[in-house]
Amino acid sequence: MDHFIRNIRKTGAVSSCSSEVARILAESLDLANFDTVVELGSGTGAITKKLLEYVSPNALFLALELNEHFVEQTKKSCPKALVYHDSAENVKKYLNKHGKETCNCVISTLPWTLFNEELQKKILSSILDVLPPGGEFLTVSYTFSSLMPAGRRFRSLMRGQFSDVRRTKPVWKNLPPLYIYHCKK
Ligand SMILES: C[S@@+](CC[C@H](N)C(=O)[O-])C[C@H]1O[C@@H](n2cnc3c(N)ncnc32)[C@H](O)[C@@H]1O
Repeated sequence: MDHFIRNIRKTGAVSSCSSEVARILAESLDLANFDTVVELGSGTGAITKKLLEYVSPNALFLALELNEHFVEQTKKSCPKALVYHDSAENVKKYLNKHGKETCNCVISTLPWTLFNEELQKKILSSILDVLPPGGEFLTVSYTFSSLMPAGRRFRSLMRGQFSDVRRTKPVWKNLPPLYIYHCKK
């Protein structure tokens, strides 16, 4: 918790996502049948740990995280995940490193409202680049961010770029409450 608060301008959160959010994310996808799964903004591994319970043992699970301290923490708590200290827009580089061009899905808890328009577009375009047609993208968004210009801009970017964009009801068991967006390329 402390590390999130001390770094709030970069993490965009006061604490890890709740176990309820992790469960909904994991159960929204057919993870057991995927061979390549990517997580962006894995933080301290709260979501990573849950996702790994659903992912096939033979699958490649890649995570990218900007905070070095969090990367080390997640490497220890989730040894099955390949966690890299780098920014989300470089996702293709890490897939290529493991002999892959695309992945079945990208799961993000990135703080989109802290990103300027250029970075939102850059990361979204990198995500689209590694998803095949029909590939899935899940992302969380705090309910209050739909009132913020950066939140509205990101929602409209998703709607413009994916063929299907759905939003859950608010997940009240997370503080602050959030929505989960489920998009298909
Ligand atoms: C809201 S926190 C979520 C952390 C974790 N997944 C959880 O739910 O507890 C967002 C995370 O994204 C990371 N982050 C921010 N910008 C990033 C970027 N450009 N690339 C990768 N990770 C980033 C932050 O360091 C932070 O750990």
